[in-house]
Amino acid sequence: MAKTKTAFFCQNCGTQYAKWVGQCSSCKEWNTIVEEVVQKEDKRSWKTDASAAKQASKPLRVSEITQEKELRLDTLDQEFNRVLGGGLVPGSLTLLGGEPGIGKSTLLLQIALKLPYRTLYVSGEESQRQIKMRADRIQPNSETCYILTETKTQNIFQQIASVEPDLVVIDSIQTLHSDYIESAAGSISQIRECTAELIKFAKESHTPVILVGHITKDGTIAGPKILEHMVDTVLQFEGDRNYVYRILRSLKNRFGSTAELGIYEMQGSGLREVNNPSEVLISKNEEDLSGTAIAATVEGMRPLLIEIQALVSTAVYGTPQRSATGFNAKRLNMLLAVLEKRAGFKLAAKDVFLNITGGITVDDPAIDLAVVAAILSSNADIPIEKGVCFAAEVGLAGEIRPVQRVDQRILEAEKLGFTTIFVSKSNKIGLKNTGIQVQKVSKIEDVVSQLFG
Ligand code: TYD
Ligand code: MG
Repeated sequence: MAKTKTAFFCQNCGTQYAKWVGQCSSCKEWNTIVEEVVQKEDKRSWKTDASAAKQASKPLRVSEITQEKELRLDTLDQEFNRVLGGGLVPGSLTLLGGEPGIGKSTLLLQIALKLPYRTLYVSGEESQRQIKMRADRIQPNSETCYILTETKTQNIFQQIASVEPDLVVIDSIQTLHSDYIESAAGSISQIRECTAELIKFAKESHTPVILVGHITKDGTIAGPKILEHMVDTVLQFEGDRNYVYRILRSLKNRFGSTAELGIYEMQGSGLREVNNPSEVLISKNEEDLSGTAIAATVEGMRPLLIEIQALVSTAVYGTPQRSATGFNAKRLNMLLAVLEKRAGFKLAAKDVFLNITGGITVDDPAIDLAVVAAILSSNADIPIEKGVCFAAEVGLAGEIRPVQRVDQRILEAEKLGFTTIFVSKSNKIGLKNTGIQVQKVSKIEDVVSQLFG
């Protein structure tokens, strides 16, 4: 009998060791090294006869490679298609990561239910009845969606062979286990083995496969980094669970750009595509409120108008409080310091709370000016005029800096009926004859005098 081969793997980052160590030298985590059985088996295949028929490939000149029109499977979900770069590529593996409860299962079940051709939704986490209950909420009847609760890959492939689906969804990769490996489901070597089997299946049968991946507490997909290298596309589903908006991003895409973004709204009947995000992210208050400013941001490739709210009040305790939701707290402190220096804002005496509405998080530096405007507006208790929005970065010297894709931002603001947009004086603008007034400013002082002067 062949000797059982084992190796040691860091459960955090997947680094392999020949012997046990206390600390992973790669990710510096303590006590994460676990021994796993990595038994080699040569017969492994998703279909025992498939590999025999496989031909070895030969090198070809680039010019010799014929490219047929790239086929894509339309998922009937515009946001999902957009993030994938136009639909699922046959034979591709897509990994969808996200925090628990964010809606990964809902999104994929919804897609599987809507498609008019055969789909197989494999769940290792919920029972068929549980999934049926969820399916009833989303879309009561589908004749082409099959539900399977199974965790053993060999059994899954057997069912695939009888159902012959056009799309396979696996929820989740961490629950699968393969007979060829002895370690527990969810361990590094199991994840790697099961993914390898699924890749082989996908490539040989040209069936797209979508995997759900769990996320560890620091936000990376649980399991080895290698999982992300193995698949073709890595998507991330994110958002604040207390809010209804969810953002689908692509972190890696072998078949399209990673700059695309999908936005959904969680409803009682599943996830609704949000095709016009700016409209939902801006509240429609009739009266003017102080402390609110609109920023023209770009998320991925999509222009997005978002609302920023600030509340400035006199500090009750010795140390003023600073709190930011959806915005980097360090950046908020920096902007406050700039304001103290440039606009006579008494930093030490004020509590400042900042909030980006809709529960979304924005990294775009172009929202700086709107943040500053919201803070100043709340501080002075003077509302910013309706129809005004902002798109500029603020530098340490209080200078208003240019931002990328300014034309796109201006057009989006104009489309939504804004009348004035503040941008940096040094921003090159390609647009001519805009219906919106482009207000060019170079210093914070200019903005203060124009808004509140
Ligand atoms: P789920 O898809 O189970 O999350 P994940 O697979 O990422 O862990 O989503 C669960 C949440 O979504 C749950 O808190 C309830 C909510 N939800 C709705 O609001 N509406 C719906 O129609 C469904 C199916 C779920
Ligand atoms: Mg789930």
